[in-house]
Amino acid sequence: MTTAFDLNLIGRFVALLLPAAELRDGGNIRQSDMNFGGVVRGQDKVLSRAGQNCGTETMPSKAAPNKRCSTSNETKGKIEVTTRTKVKHMKQIKILLLAAALALPLVAKADIAGSKHDFSTNSWNTSRHTMCGPCHSIHDTDPSQLVPLWKHATTTKTFTMYDSPSFDGKATQTAQPSGASKACLSCHDGSLAVNQSFDGSYSSGSVVGGVTNIQMVGVSRQIAADGNLSATHPISFDYTDVASKDEFIKAPSSALTFATGNMVGKTVNDLLKGGKMECSSCHDVHKQKGAAPTDTFMRIVRNDYSELCRSCHIK
Ligand code: HEC
Ligand code: HEC
Ligand code: HEC
Ligand code: HEC
Repeated sequence: MTTAFDLNLIGRFVALLLPAAELRDGGNIRQSDMNFGGVVRGQDKVLSRAGQNCGTETMPSKAAPNKRCSTSNETKGKIEVTTRTKVKHMKQIKILLLAAALALPLVAKADIAGSKHDFSTNSWNTSRHTMCGPCHSIHDTDPSQLVPLWKHATTTKTFTMYDSPSFDGKATQTAQPSGASKACLSCHDGSLAVNQSFDGSYSSGSVVGGVTNIQMVGVSRQIAADGNLSATHPISFDYTDVASKDEFIKAPSSALTFATGNMVGKTVNDLLKGGKMECSSCHDVHKQKGAAPTDTFMRIVRNDYSELCRSCHIK
């Protein structure tokens, strides 16, 4: 993980410095050149901080990653060239500072640390500050293996699954949510405490659980609190089976059209869990995949222009 982290860091710096090299010989700084080779494509916030103003074209599109703002509406931060060398160096320093400033917030959020799923600083987690502990453990985990080495208590709620007259997944859908989805619901259905382990122990062994202890923070973050999954996107069914029946569902082998980050080059199959559609087909609980590190809801494909939906649906 450390290696991937470092490479990520280096990768981002290199990507950020490339345009800097390009700028060095120019007479003025064209801020529109800061397109980062598509690396932070779609990070509107970051781009606007860099001063980019391309009218409606705030980001280069996937089809034309190097497309720049059209001359008519681009913002040029002109710097007059008086003493050539001095200005050249100043520019280099400024660009380096800008690159560093841009790289930090992007890198800092690229995993579970600091995310909504990081409970290491919660009041009930002060003895060992475990980051994985609320969900996984090394020994003495739930033998049901709902997700690998699952330590959290599992919801016992009976859910009403999704159905509709046109839903093709009914034939393969499990009677109750399966695998990772059931794991998500074990906190998100609001029935169990966030720090409730399956055997009543937590971390160093002290009992900190209990349904009334740490409830899901914010009722708005509860999913199917009433057990009703029929009002949420269908889950726990065989995607491949549906794709073979429904011509408007992409084949699992289809390339992820709107992928960013480490999901570039991956297929729809990489969103599935053993060929099945689950909560984690859209969200990355560890906040690492694709757009998840910076997306508000840890979505693997961000949902501007409904790109997440269009990753699977031909609509
Ligand atoms: C909020 C709960 C939660 C926390 C915290 C958490 N995980 Fe997970 N983890 C899951 C779930 C749910 C899955 C099932 C994966 C999926 O469906 O995406 C999983 C899967 C995994 C897997 C196997 C599949 C994969 O994605 O690689 C590993 C390894 C893993 N977690 C390691 C960790 C480590 C190490 C930590 C701490 C740094 C951690 N997890 C923190 C919930 C959590
Ligand atoms: C150990 C308990 C736990 C598990 C397991 C868990 N979550 Fe969460 N999750 C939380 C908490 C607590 C929050 C923060 C809620 C808040 O801020 O009100 C959260 C936040 C989120 C958010 C972000 C909501 C926001 O405010 O931006 C998403 C999306 C999410 N979880 C999805 C999932 C998915 C998908 C899974 C399973 C793969 C999962 N969670 C598993 C406890 C959990
Ligand atoms: C088809 C993709 C998809 C699936 C499957 C999915 N989600 Fe979401 N989820 C989203 C999107 C998109 C949002 C952003 C808010 C919105 O559009 O309503 C979201 C928002 C959330 C939030 C933030 C709170 C809220 O209601 O806005 C949580 C928590 C969450 N999802 C958890 C889950 C859990 C748990 C499951 C499985 C039972 C799940 N999601 C299945 C796409 C999905
Ligand atoms: C990982 C792939 C995937 C993603 C992402 C996804 N879906 Fe789906 N969705 C499916 C599959 C497969 C079905 C089942 C289709 C069927 O029954 O024909 C489905 C079912 C549906 C249905 C119900 C269809 C019915 O006939 O009852 C709707 C509506 C829907 N999705 C909308 C969305 C929206 C909106 C988004 C984006 C927020 C989204 N989906 C994201 C794969 C996905």
